Amino acid sequence: MCGIVGAVAQRDVCPILLEGLKRLEYRGYDSAGIAVLNGNHKLERVRVLGKVQDLVTSLSAQPLHGGTGIAHTRWATHGKPSIENAHPHVYKEKIALVHNGIIENHEPLRQQQKQHGFDFNTETDTEVIVNQIEYYLRTGQDLLQAVFNTVDDLEGAYSLGIICTDEPGRIIAARSGSALVIGVGIGEYFIASDIFALLPVTQQFIILEEGDIADIQRDQLRIYDKNHQAVIRQIIISQQVAEAVDKAGYRHFMLKEIFTQPLAIAETLEGRLADGLVVESAFGMRAATIFDQAEAIDIVACGTSYHAGLVAKYWLEATAGIPCQVEIASEFRYRRKVVSRNSLFVTISQSGETTDTLAALELAKTLNYISTLAICNVPESSLTRASELVFLTHAGPEIGVASTKAFTTQLTALFMLMILLARRRGLTSEQEKGLVHHLETLPGKINLALDLNQQLSELAERFADKHHALYLGRGSMLPVAMEGALKLKEISYIHAEAYAAGELKHGPLALVDNDMPVIAVAPNNQLLEKLKSNLQEVRARGGKLYVFTDTDVNIQASEDISMIRMAPVPDCIAPIVFTVPLQLFAYHIAVLKGADIDQPRNLAKAVTVE
Ligand code: F6R
Repeated sequence: MCGIVGAVAQRDVCPILLEGLKRLEYRGYDSAGIAVLNGNHKLERVRVLGKVQDLVTSLSAQPLHGGTGIAHTRWATHGKPSIENAHPHVYKEKIALVHNGIIENHEPLRQQQKQHGFDFNTETDTEVIVNQIEYYLRTGQDLLQAVFNTVDDLEGAYSLGIICTDEPGRIIAARSGSALVIGVGIGEYFIASDIFALLPVTQQFIILEEGDIADIQRDQLRIYDKNHQAVIRQIIISQQVAEAVDKAGYRHFMLKEIFTQPLAIAETLEGRLADGLVVESAFGMRAATIFDQAEAIDIVACGTSYHAGLVAKYWLEATAGIPCQVEIASEFRYRRKVVSRNSLFVTISQSGETTDTLAALELAKTLNYISTLAICNVPESSLTRASELVFLTHAGPEIGVASTKAFTTQLTALFMLMILLARRRGLTSEQEKGLVHHLETLPGKINLALDLNQQLSELAERFADKHHALYLGRGSMLPVAMEGALKLKEISYIHAEAYAAGELKHGPLALVDNDMPVIAVAPNNQLLEKLKSNLQEVRARGGKLYVFTDTDVNIQASEDISMIRMAPVPDCIAPIVFTVPLQLFAYHIAVLKGADIDQPRNLAKAVTVE
C-alpha cells in the first residue's frame, strides 16, 4: 500500500513529484524515492529510508532535475523498510518503475527470471515486474508492448508507473486493482494514486479503469483497455481545491482534527437539513425510491468506519425498526452471504480507497441488493464512483492516521440515514424535528467536551506507564468503547481491548488487577445501573477505573475511581459526543509516551492492499 506519482513535462518535474509524494504520504511512509530522466536522458535515482521529508532533505544535498520522472512513498508489504527495498526499482540504469499493490505470483516469476539470468537486489515482489519488462524489451519490443506482455504475466493488484532511458519523454502507466489517475495539464501529463496528489498542477483528470494501460508523452496520451484495445476515457474536472493542509498552530494534525469536529459536523449538516427535517436528496437523486424499498441494511467497512457502522446498527434497529447487519469488509468479501429481501448495501469509508471495502462493494454488486450507498469523506474516490448512492461527509482532509473527525461525521451521516428510514416506519415530523434538533446541538455539545482537554491531559499522566487497558461500554456505547480502545492502541502502542461490560464476568475479568486500568463509557442512560454493577466487579478485584460519564451521574470519585464528567447529552447523540474525550485521552497518553502521533508505526492512512 503505497503512493505513486509521475510526470512528463517540458519543465523540471522534481518539485511536482515531491509535492505529490507529500500529499500521498498518508498511504505509507516507511521509505520514499524518486527517479528522473535528466537532460542527457540518463536515469538518476534517490531513495531514502524514512519519510518524504527525508527525501526532500536528501535531494537538497543532491538535487535531481528532469522532464520525465516517477516517485513513490512506501508502506512495506514484501521486504522490510530499507533503502534496497524502496522504490523506484530499476533494471540496471535503464528502466525504473514504481508500484502500488501486491504481485501474488512473484515467486514463480522470480524462479523463471533466475533461469533467464536475472539478478535480484531486493526482497520485494515489485522487482519481478521491472525484470519482466526488460525480458520483453530484449525481444525487440518497444516499452508499451513490453508492458502489455508483462501485465499479462502478473497476478495480483498493481498500479504502475514506468520510465525507460530508451524512450525518454514517455511514461507507461497501468492499473489493475489499485487506483491510478492521469492528470491532464497543458502540454504535460501526470499520474498519481489519487487526485489530491495532483491538485496543485491540474483540475482535469482521467480516472483509469481496471486493466487500463496508458501511454503518456508530453503532447500525446493513448489509453488501452485490458484487451489492449485503444479506448477513449472521459476527462473529468475535479471540484476539489488544492487547499494547503497545515496544523493551524496545533502540535499535531490529530489534535487539530479533534478540535475541528464541531466545524466538521456543521459542514456535514450544511445543506442537508431544511425546515427542521433531513433533505433526502443529500444521499443521491434516487435515494427516495431506494429507501422506500429498503427492508434491511447491511453495512460493511473497516477499522474506525466499521465502529461507526456498529453504532448505526443500534440506531437503525431501535429508532427506524429496520434490521441491520454490520460486517468487517475483509471478512465479508470472502464468505458466502445470504442477502435478505430488499436489502440496501452500505459502505462507510473515510478515504474511499480501502481495498477490502472496495472489494466488498464489488461482491455486493453481484448479489441481489437493491442498491449501494457509500458514506465517504473523499469526493471522486473509487468508492463514491462505484456506488449508486453517495453521502459525502464533508469533514475536510483528515491527515492524522488515527481517524477522528471522519468518525464523528460518519456518525452524523448515519444518524440522518436512520431518520430517513425511520420516517418510512412511522417517525412523525414532530419526532424527526426533535432528532434533527439534537443533531444541530452537536457542535455545541462537542465544544463542551473539548473543554475537558486540560483535565484529560493531566489524567493521562497516570496512564502513560501502563501496558494494557480494558474499555467497557454497553449498548451503543460498546462501539464507542471499541473506538476508544483502537485510538489508544494505534497511537500510544498500549494494548487495549474493548468489551461489552456485561461480558466481563465471562472471561476478561480474570485480567483485572492493580495494573489493569479499566475505562468505562457510562453516560446516564437506561443501562447505567447495569454498568455500575459491572464496575463494582472491577473495583472488587483491585482494578483502577476511569469513568467517562455525565455530570448528573451519582458515582463518587475515589482513590480507585477517576471521573470524567461531561455535560448531560441526549441518549441518541451520546455516542458522537462521548467519542471526543476518548480521542483526547488517547492523544495525551501517546504524547506522553513520545509516540509519532500523526504517523504511528506500521500504519498508513489509506489501506490500499488486502
Ligand atoms: C483507525 C483508522 C483505520 C481506518 C480503516 C478504514 O484510526 O483510521 O482503522 O478507519 O483503515 O479506513 P477508511 O475509513 O478510509 O476506509
